[in-house]
Amino acid sequence: MKVRVGVNGYGTIGKRVAWAVTQQPDMELAGIVKTRPNWEALSAVKRGYKIYTLRDSLKEFHSRGIAVQGVLEDLITSVDVIVDATPGDVGATNKALYERFSRKAIFQGGEEPGIAEVSFNSLVNYREALGRNYVRVVSCNTTGLLRVIHAISRVDRVKNVRGLIIRRAADLKEVKKGPVEGLVLDPPKPPSHHALDVNTVINDLDIVTYAVIAPTTLAHVHVLRFTMERNVSLDKVLDSLANTPRILLVDGGLLKSTAELRELARDIGRPYGDIFENVVWSDSVYVRGDEVMLTYAVHQEAIVVPENIDAVRAITRIAERAEESIKLTDESLGIKRWL
Ligand SMILES: NC(=O)c1ccc[n+]([C@@H]2O[C@H](COP(=O)([O-])OP(=O)(O)OC[C@H]3O[C@@H](n4cnc5c(N)ncnc54)[C@H](OP(=O)(O)O)[C@@H]3O)[C@@H](O)[C@H]2O)c1
Repeated sequence: MKVRVGVNGYGTIGKRVAWAVTQQPDMELAGIVKTRPNWEALSAVKRGYKIYTLRDSLKEFHSRGIAVQGVLEDLITSVDVIVDATPGDVGATNKALYERFSRKAIFQGGEEPGIAEVSFNSLVNYREALGRNYVRVVSCNTTGLLRVIHAISRVDRVKNVRGLIIRRAADLKEVKKGPVEGLVLDPPKPPSHHALDVNTVINDLDIVTYAVIAPTTLAHVHVLRFTMERNVSLDKVLDSLANTPRILLVDGGLLKSTAELRELARDIGRPYGDIFENVVWSDSVYVRGDEVMLTYAVHQEAIVVPENIDAVRAITRIAERAEESIKLTDESLGIKRWL
């Protein structure tokens, strides 16, 4: 029997998770929740998704002629799991409803870690999420950091991580967000919240991050420096990166910008032009003794999508092992199948 999934919040993340659910052999999309009958609601209609709304919004949907199946509470009672992809802090209010109807829920990185029993990354702590009621998939930047930290930790023990995160200022549709000019230190004093968020998943890691917001919508770029317990070799580092799920190595001689990367994703027909992988520039990987440095891109709108799908499997225990879920998710979404 398929797991029934509802998606509450059909924006940047929610629409992608909803689509990804429809690609899974062991899941069924029960419906999505929209509060406004806007262009995103119309695109959900076009895709044939069942639309639910809030009680207060019913009239507006009727006057726009958009058919709804019911209200949020109807969707909650008809599913096994809700993926809450509402804007940051709205999930905290919704949690009371999920509790009232005894439904499992997956929250996003915009919520405080305390909302869930576990802050989640598929590669690092899948087991900890097994059978839980509430799991939080960490943010796009934290997901990117954790995947790479996991890959480098497979080479040898990591003593510490230092990093610079160049953050995209807004997603494409966020017409009112900036900056449109200038680079903004966010915050000037380290650590940025990303390091703290990594510690919600790996609590004993010595990590410090700086973050700078840049006027771009395409992707984040991270520059990391690891100090390892012992000397390591370039070959081993590259090999581990290449063999870690959801990490893709690209040649900087072929392409060296987030713009080309996103264009390539569109060229090869990725849905929404999405990049689910961390894209590491192989030429940027620098190893000297116990020091490892590297640069990679994180497509903020897409990177957490596979993690949400794995979180559904962990929370419902339809896959007991991380490898099993990651394989299914990655095959269904075409992850690491590029040119
Ligand atoms: N965007 C990213 O790069 C990114 C990456 C990783 C994680 N996240 C996290 O993912 C979460 C969602 O972010 P997002 O970027 O997808 O936001 P978003 O694009 O603003 O989408 C959220 C959607 O939720 C809907 N919504 C608002 N209030 C609601 C309510 N009370 N009940 C149900 N739906 C409501 C809104 O649509 P309507 O009101 O029109 O229905 C909105 O489109 C946040 O926690 C964020 O931090 C975002």
